[in-house]
Amino acid sequence: MHAVKLGVPVLDELLPEGVLRSSLISVQGEPGTGKSAIVAEVAYRFTQRGEPAIMVCMEDTALSAAQRILTLGFDLTKALEGGLVFLDCFSYRIEERIRRARLSPSVSRLREAISGSTVYIGKPRGPEDVWRAVLMEVESRGVAERGAVVLDSITEFLTRVDPVVLLESMKELRADLCKGLMVPVFYTMHFGVFDEYRSIMECFTDGIIDLRFDPKGMKMGILAKQVRVRRMSGVRHLTKWVSFEIVRGEGAVKV
Ligand SMILES: Nc1ncnc2c1ncn2[C@@H]1O[C@H](COP(=O)(O)OP(=O)(O)O)[C@@H](O)[C@H]1O
Ligand SMILES: [Mg+2]
Repeated sequence: MHAVKLGVPVLDELLPEGVLRSSLISVQGEPGTGKSAIVAEVAYRFTQRGEPAIMVCMEDTALSAAQRILTLGFDLTKALEGGLVFLDCFSYRIEERIRRARLSPSVSRLREAISGSTVYIGKPRGPEDVWRAVLMEVESRGVAERGAVVLDSITEFLTRVDPVVLLESMKELRADLCKGLMVPVFYTMHFGVFDEYRSIMECFTDGIIDLRFDPKGMKMGILAKQVRVRRMSGVRHLTKWVSFEIVRGEGAVKV
């Protein structure tokens, strides 16, 4: 099939046919609007169908990403069996002596449980080091036309590398992974920082999923999450803002 449904309840409402597998998709919004939760669920839903998913952890450890899957109420064991892989681009920051610190038995067990599915990346010089690792993982798992890659977040790079370098390297990633291997890539990007750069990125993404807090609720001091699909190449989609909640075990559901 050319298109694939995402399996995230609120996104399935907005994207009834799913997305093209050849898509590079931006999930963007202010901090706290649910970007990380949404892309974690996207990855989880792929593994539920037995399709591998690679979670590239840029601003957090693989262990934290695994904890997020658990607190979302999802079955991590099944996800790992289904092909969930963590590419940990954060743990290199943890000092050696801290790494050896003793953690509680439950956390240690979790770390052990994901160890076979975690690839640790040393300090990347730039995005190309991370992409190379992603491509190696994808190729070694033979996931052409199957599975997905989620990257949380690319804002992490913008604080370190020249935006032009990142832009060029994102184009390469899109060409190889999305267009060449037909593996969709979802990346998160924060609002409020490097906003001028965001509009350039948007020009060559295939899809844009916007997240925000409901402006009406904000006036009353309520932070209600909303999502809309601003653009999605090649498929029918609704463009209205829809309110959603993150419900344990169910994921992001329309309210
Ligand atoms: N596992 C979870 N269970 C319940 N609510 C969650 C969970 N993960 C995230 N949320 C809700 O979503 C909000 C945003 O989470 P997050 O995905 O980290 O946002 P972002 O990545 O956009 O900064 C949290 O503040 C919380 O309200
Ligand atoms: Mg986040």
